[in-house]
Amino acid sequence: MTSADLDPNQIPTHVACVMDGNGRWAQARGLKRTDGHAAGEEALLDVVNGALDLGVEWLTVYAFSTENWRRPTDEVRFLMHFNESLLLRRRDELHEKDVRIRFIGRRDWRVPKRLLRQMDESEKLTTNNKTLTLTVAFNYGSQAEIVDAVKQICESGVDPSDIDEALIARHLYDPEMPEVDLWVRTSGEHRISNYLIWQSAYAELVFVDTFWPDFRAEHLRSAVGEFQSRTRRFGGLSD
Ligand code: IPE
Ligand code: IPE
Ligand code: MG
Repeated sequence: MTSADLDPNQIPTHVACVMDGNGRWAQARGLKRTDGHAAGEEALLDVVNGALDLGVEWLTVYAFSTENWRRPTDEVRFLMHFNESLLLRRRDELHEKDVRIRFIGRRDWRVPKRLLRQMDESEKLTTNNKTLTLTVAFNYGSQAEIVDAVKQICESGVDPSDIDEALIARHLYDPEMPEVDLWVRTSGEHRISNYLIWQSAYAELVFVDTFWPDFRAEHLRSAVGEFQSRTRRFGGLSD
């Protein structure tokens, strides 16, 4: 599928990807699981370019979940270093493409200080970019995000009768993030895995069998094609 097969007036504003299947991709090739994470970098950059070509304004990718700390220490350590080095190597290129980099997730003591610093610097460098917001969900879990929002709301002393959906949304990690239109998971798993649950209340879900390291802009275009074939009703009736 090429961009010409898609309706330019129905491009999803916000696409969210669960970049899953790195370990299985590597295992199928007799490689280490961590080689699969490394191979995912090319997929990510290609998908960013694909999103830019399509005119997607928000792309959010799941890089490390609040549950991923359960993995072997070596793999966790690799992922921390890898994400730091990816930022150092790729942020200028993303900046030149007018991509604004943001992070959502808990910035707790388990995330290395050096990585936190690179996250801050990448956000600062790209803060005025406008074409695409690339949000990296790192040490992210939707349940933790909602817990953190509820804590802030309680601390603010708000009257319970003033709590509504908009107030909760304003206390999520990125209050500016729009609701997810298209939610994509690679690798054949049919699970949400604690990803953008609030923001995806009315997202169209697309599950693809491709492992993340093989996912490219053309797969993103197919997912957008699938999105365009759906009728979104938001609880109402289609005309
Ligand atoms: C996704 O790939 C990347 C992270 C969770 C960090 P996986 O590492 O989950 O790969 P599989 O699912 O084991 O194949
Ligand atoms: C979700 O994938 C997290 C990321 C892709 C970063 P997982 O591989 O961790 O999810 P489960 O464990 O299969 O649900
Ligand atoms: Mg997985």
